[in-house]
Amino acid sequence: MRDGQNSVIYRADYQAPAYWIDTVDLCFDLDPAKTRVLNKMKLRRNADVAPQPLRLDGEELNLSRVLVNGQGTSFKIDGGQLVLENLPEGDQPFELEIFTTCAPVKNTKLMGLYVSNDSFFTQCEAEGFRRITYFLDRPDVMASYTVTLRADKARYPVLLSNGNLVDQGKLDDGRHFARWVDPFRKPSYLFALVAGQLVCREQRITSRAGKEHLLQVYVRPGDLDKTEHAMNALMDSVAWDEARFGLSLDLERFMIVATSDFNMGAMENKGLNIFNTKYVLASQATATDTDFSNIESVVGHEYFHNWTGNRVTCRDWFQLSLKEGLTVFRDQEFSQDLAGEASARAVKRIEDVRVLRTAQFPEDAGPMAHPVRPDQYLEINNFYTVTVYEKGAEVVRMMQTLVGREGFARGMTLYFERHDGHAVTCDDFAQAIADANPGSQFEQLLPQFKRWYSQAGTPRVTAVTQYDEPTGEYRLTLSQSCPPTPGQEHKEPFVIPIGLGLLAADGSELTSRMHVLTQASETLTFPGIDGEPVPSILRGFSAPVILEHAYTDAQLLTLLAHDTDPFNRWEAGQRLAVNRALAFMGQQAMPASDIRLDQPYIEAMRSILRHPTLDSAFKELVLTLPAETYLGEQLQEVDPQRVHAVREAMRQQLAQQLQADWQCAFETNSDTGGYVPDPVSCGRRALAGMALTHLCLAARSGAHSAGPGQPDVWPGKAYQRFKDAANMTDRFNALSALVISGNELAAPALQKFHALFKDEPLVLDKWFALQAGQPDRGGNVLPAVKQLMNHPDFNIRNPNRARSVIFSYCSANPGAFHRPDAAGYVFWSERVLELDPINPQVAARLARALDRWKKLVEPLRSAAREAIARVAAKPDLSNDVREVVTRALA
Ligand code: ARG
Ligand code: ZN
Repeated sequence: MRDGQNSVIYRADYQAPAYWIDTVDLCFDLDPAKTRVLNKMKLRRNADVAPQPLRLDGEELNLSRVLVNGQGTSFKIDGGQLVLENLPEGDQPFELEIFTTCAPVKNTKLMGLYVSNDSFFTQCEAEGFRRITYFLDRPDVMASYTVTLRADKARYPVLLSNGNLVDQGKLDDGRHFARWVDPFRKPSYLFALVAGQLVCREQRITSRAGKEHLLQVYVRPGDLDKTEHAMNALMDSVAWDEARFGLSLDLERFMIVATSDFNMGAMENKGLNIFNTKYVLASQATATDTDFSNIESVVGHEYFHNWTGNRVTCRDWFQLSLKEGLTVFRDQEFSQDLAGEASARAVKRIEDVRVLRTAQFPEDAGPMAHPVRPDQYLEINNFYTVTVYEKGAEVVRMMQTLVGREGFARGMTLYFERHDGHAVTCDDFAQAIADANPGSQFEQLLPQFKRWYSQAGTPRVTAVTQYDEPTGEYRLTLSQSCPPTPGQEHKEPFVIPIGLGLLAADGSELTSRMHVLTQASETLTFPGIDGEPVPSILRGFSAPVILEHAYTDAQLLTLLAHDTDPFNRWEAGQRLAVNRALAFMGQQAMPASDIRLDQPYIEAMRSILRHPTLDSAFKELVLTLPAETYLGEQLQEVDPQRVHAVREAMRQQLAQQLQADWQCAFETNSDTGGYVPDPVSCGRRALAGMALTHLCLAARSGAHSAGPGQPDVWPGKAYQRFKDAANMTDRFNALSALVISGNELAAPALQKFHALFKDEPLVLDKWFALQAGQPDRGGNVLPAVKQLMNHPDFNIRNPNRARSVIFSYCSANPGAFHRPDAAGYVFWSERVLELDPINPQVAARLARALDRWKKLVEPLRSAAREAIARVAAKPDLSNDVREVVTRALA
């Protein structure tokens, strides 16, 4: 291994760069096998730092020439870095010219410059620019870029880079060129270029401020009819950021380009966002409602980065949540504001919390736990996590809760006044919010509040209540604690905003307020309460904590029926389900098929399903049982197959006991008219799909319970709906109903689905994912997954396709993956090792499928450890995978 590839980087070691780069003039001769890059920079020493050699980052580059002020110079390569020792003395700027080549077609890591479908794309965040040229590849070095692209005109007619197109024309030999100038200084991670055969949808807009802009969405020819939704989302994003935060688009031209080979979701390169096709392309025939809503979020997210990320960027990568947490918060608010009505906003909030609790809470309790602002990393790509993104967004949300919406907007304004054009820290952001709200509780609590950035782990808040009948005094004691995480044994108390309400026994609301918990334990007193109330605690999920309270079933049923806070209303239903699942799992000896849900619970679910005024989307959320991973987190020791069996048995009970209600729900929600992905019709389609699944499940046992509902007709109806559906949501839901219920019609439906969509890669991803994620029946899924990997449409080098098969099995199908014979783990270790040399980022994500191995029951636990050890034993692992498996075994 070369120097610099093995060492852990610490936040505490931050040092300002020894040189600044003021301008960069890049010239590319694009060729898949050998692209030539001429990089002309103007540099100067940073006078604040002791004189030292210039060390430029580089990776997989072929260096052919280095000139300083036009003259040849001595240099050495050390640990991959280009080191220049004999530079001009003094503070005078000097010019450095570096000539290198690279091989984009061989770039399977998809970092730096790579080829996808015979087009060129780049991905530079976090450290991909060094794979394009030697550079100070760190976010606090901000330069002005001029970029010239040269390529064969017929093969690469479209040539794009950041900023404004200033020149273009013909060259000899059928080649052409384009020159782009970015008017804003930027760090190298925001550089981008695209070249290829692309077409675009265009839209001219006039901003609130009266400025004209050109918006463009570039895709492959043939996909243009799937760009309308992304363009609408982009226009909505521009308008929203102006209206909500007074932030306008600062470029004449703003481009989005889609590529089918992409490691993550999308990238906010200045003026030239590059997207995974999954988050751009949508038509009613090929995309589900979920796809439409994800596109809206991701388009918003990347656009909002233009201010929170690009205009103000990160000083170093430990500050990643400065831009990611804040921008996720902004995209969540954007989607809520577009959803409009309070009930639709609440649905979005519940969905966001569900992601946090099923993905981030386990991360925060496992070997990869890290603070929102990490203190160390081996490979920064491993820290693009749900903690940095989603928990980071919750931290920003708590700030808004504490200072109010207006106070928060003032804080944002001050943040940009102070830091526009600079690379700053999470502390700078929190300070701006505090300083814009002088005299506020937040300002006073700021040092303690910032523990959310420094302490990892999910805090637990325990609530204990006491009611004194004679005096009518109600006491609520809230205590907090936080379990140890790697490297952090002891935690100090957090600042925890807790939304509180009290309901009378009849469900009417007695009082509501926000309490800010700052001590390890505090007692609140409510005088004059007539009869013991039902507490509604942590309304709106006001903080990313685990709330422990010994709710009785009666209290939960009251909250489910009456709470004015939709989040806690939903949460009450989840708690009822969790309590039942845990009770069943406690009865080890009971076969899952003997599980019977009690009538009060069934009736509560029935009254939600039959409720005359609740939104269909909300009903669907309430009727969805907690995820297997979420249930697993509630246990000391997990047997994923038992968790799966119990949850499936509960679902089967809901299917059978509520059969008539599902039928009614299906009938009243199944026709949503002409396709529009608005919250109301999406909710209706979601509930209809859920009903269909349950009706098909009920049909499974229907032979015995054939009654007025005639359950056995439903698989046929589902098949018919699958064939006739006018949109992908209904079609896919019908297909899923057949697959999930294990019906014999699933096979012909899957075959037909493949035939219909064989030329639609994103739809094929769904086809693969559905099969790899299907409920296990006697260990049938792993053989099916292996077969899918032999399918001619499978390609492990394409991240979306690899995820649709391998991740859908290893990371999203615990009941099928955690096999007692350990064959799932063997498969996992083979795939991690197969992927690592191809694409370490994707391999490292997969490696995390066994994060929680220490919680598994034997013999799974030992088998999982062995599988991880087998991966760890391989020499030459990437930093990415090595960091994940080393931490897992620690
Ligand atoms: N900044 C991008 C976003 O969240 C993510 C890019 C991450 N890429 C990576 N290779 N780690 O919008
Ligand atoms: Zn982002």
